[in-house]
Amino acid sequence: KKVVLAYSGGLDTSAIVPWLKENYNCEVVAFVADVGQGAEELEGVEAKAIASGASECHIVDLKDELVADYIYPTLKTGAIYEGTYLLGTSMARPIIAKAQVEVARKVGADALSHGCTGKGNDQVRFESCFAALAPDLKVIAPWREWDLSSRESLLDYLAERNIPCSASATKIYSRDANAWHISHEGGELEDPWCQPSDQVWTWTNSPEQAPNESLLVQLSIKNGEVVAVNGEQMSPFQVLTTLNEIAAPHGIGRVDIVENRLVGMKSRGCYETPGGTVIMAALQAIDELVLDKTSRKWKDTLANEFSHLVYDGRWFTPLKDSILAAAEAFSTLATGEVVLKLYKGQVTAVQKQSENSLYSEDFATFGEDDVYDQSHAEGFIRLFSLSSRISAMNNK
Ligand code: ARG
Ligand code: SIN
Repeated sequence: KKVVLAYSGGLDTSAIVPWLKENYNCEVVAFVADVGQGAEELEGVEAKAIASGASECHIVDLKDELVADYIYPTLKTGAIYEGTYLLGTSMARPIIAKAQVEVARKVGADALSHGCTGKGNDQVRFESCFAALAPDLKVIAPWREWDLSSRESLLDYLAERNIPCSASATKIYSRDANAWHISHEGGELEDPWCQPSDQVWTWTNSPEQAPNESLLVQLSIKNGEVVAVNGEQMSPFQVLTTLNEIAAPHGIGRVDIVENRLVGMKSRGCYETPGGTVIMAALQAIDELVLDKTSRKWKDTLANEFSHLVYDGRWFTPLKDSILAAAEAFSTLATGEVVLKLYKGQVTAVQKQSENSLYSEDFATFGEDDVYDQSHAEGFIRLFSLSSRISAMNNK
């Protein structure tokens, strides 16, 4: 028997390798997704996997595909979960699950495994994607089966088997990073009355530490995608890493929220999405110019629906295709230039233009105009409010 494990090199998945071998009497193949979590996490990961007892380790580079095929489509819908969360972890789960299934097919595995707990969203996301892509493969979720429920017991478990582990028992936060964001949960954050300590944030400066001078950055947008930063053409992945570098020192993209998990409980999370926050602000600025009122309203509905779809791990569904097709139609209008000002944690679109702009200074001006006849408004208002007038007349 052969199991492909989504392996990170952290404490949990290091213990899962021997646990699977002992409890399922199987060969364990480690699968590592490179989603842009950074060199630190990836360094030596293959050696670690083998030292834990994996028979092979497959590291798959998913960075460009993540940004182009998962993040940008989601951005085009405008999805933001519960008004704040930019879905960094959620968007990466389907591509990781898909690549894991591909490895399972390649090595002829009969099961898939992951290190998600039985209390979180990630287990639902992974397993919903597995269900859609590989319903024939068995899923093993050790966290729902074993009794190793603390860091100490996991460390003991590894020590008993002489498996080296670099993670120290003092690591307090549960973090998840990719090219788009890093998340932080656990530790003192579990008390919503507790402010995050300085150790929580790892990517961005605090607004207090940010430079006293603001910075302007110009983004060129074509069909809903950022194609250039300050006039320099770049791939979607390069745009994101460049904007992360530019925005992080200015303290852009920190959020600290209590969110509703899919499994019912609320949880508190801190997220850092510096480049993504800048991209989001630029796309919103273009939408302001090009979408009429009813289109805008419909897009808000799409955005809200899609935020739940992504958060809930329903990527490989016909609903995903349907909403993305609708969003794509709006994206064909989203072309233009935006200049954003970064200053102490805030990003503001201060200049915007688009060839598809519906904004007309001739119509909007408070000065004199010769295109708009104000007397037309009277008839419009009488009909627009007719039902109110009839109702009021009936009531008296
Ligand atoms: N609460 C966020 C979400 O559900 C972040 C989850 C972080 N996951 C993790 N394995 N640390 O998308
Ligand atoms: C986990 O519980 O494995 C991480 C958090 C989540 O999935 O929501």
